[in-house]
Amino acid sequence: MAPIYSRIIATGSALPERVVSNADLEKIVDTSDEWIRTRTGIRQRHIAAEGQTTGDLAFLAAQRALETAGVKAAELDLIVVGTTTPDLIFPSTACLVQDRLGANGCPAFDVNAACSGFMYSLGIADKFIRSGQSKKVLVIGAETLTRMIDWNERETCVLFGDGAGAVVLEAASEPGVYATCMHADGGYKELLWNPVGVSAGFSDEPNHGVRIKMAGREVFKVAVKTLDSLVDETLQAAGMHESDIDWLIPHQANLRIIEATAKRLQMPMERVIVTVDQHANTSSGSVPLALDYAVRSGKVQRGQNLLLEAFGGGFTWASALLRY
Ligand code: ACO
Repeated sequence: MAPIYSRIIATGSALPERVVSNADLEKIVDTSDEWIRTRTGIRQRHIAAEGQTTGDLAFLAAQRALETAGVKAAELDLIVVGTTTPDLIFPSTACLVQDRLGANGCPAFDVNAACSGFMYSLGIADKFIRSGQSKKVLVIGAETLTRMIDWNERETCVLFGDGAGAVVLEAASEPGVYATCMHADGGYKELLWNPVGVSAGFSDEPNHGVRIKMAGREVFKVAVKTLDSLVDETLQAAGMHESDIDWLIPHQANLRIIEATAKRLQMPMERVIVTVDQHANTSSGSVPLALDYAVRSGKVQRGQNLLLEAFGGGFTWASALLRY
């Protein structure tokens, strides 16, 4: 039997309307635009309106991707949503989005891999397609991470934003996706986490203790080192070399981490998609938002090879090398 591959046929994204600049944050914590820009590359972030949920952003991004693909929701045979900020404990955000799209009946589930959520979801969807189980899959990365920020803590509140991105994947006779890699090391759980959940530390008081905690410097060091070996592993899995990659589309957490990965790949920054300045760190939303920007701005062209990667809480890290 001829091998089956998956390929991205369309992308979409959604951002909340409200933009908060570094200067705005200067008014609420002891920080400066200069500190934020030089340490992270961030200039602004979008923040969800009161009542606007991860599912709302995911739905909009999905609608845009489906419209661009010319695919009807009823044609989908799987929906996977990478998110660590679901609307509800259950049903999953994927189920909520499925119903709003009118794709009722197909399997739908969330993947919680923190900032690697979209990359994990893409890897899983690719395997569903390769196995012959699914033919048209909606993969979304969506977050409202600012809902669990302590706005008094300057170390974390300047880093995050809200947003969502989506892709429609389709079965194809040629790649498409050449390789995906996924890893986790729960030994690092306390370097970047939210220590409150349903079965630990739960309280029904509004927003009780639901806050991101991060040891920034330590996360930075492990992220750079881990992403170095991840890109090597991904190139090897795809049977490619650095020079075969047209665009690096990295997780948008910190410009200095992105630059370190680009250097490792010997790629000039002109071949790297950077949106962290506009969006800050949108966790699972980050890579598909950057991908949609790259496609819609005309930077990424059909037939080009893209290396996508992410690193996040867990720790988790994951990648994909694909022909767009
Ligand atoms: N404004 C002004 N000063 C600040 C701020 C702020 N917002 N935040 C921290 N500082 C101060 C610190 O208190 C510290 O002061 P001190 O020297 O008097 O103690 C000083 O700045 C330096 O702090 P460092 O932690 O050394 O700064 P660093 O250069 O490491 O930058 C940062 C901090 C931006 C958090 C960086 O470590 C980083 O990006 N880490 C990785 C985080 C990351 O990528 N997370 C995402 C991956 S996982 C995910 O996406 C969820």
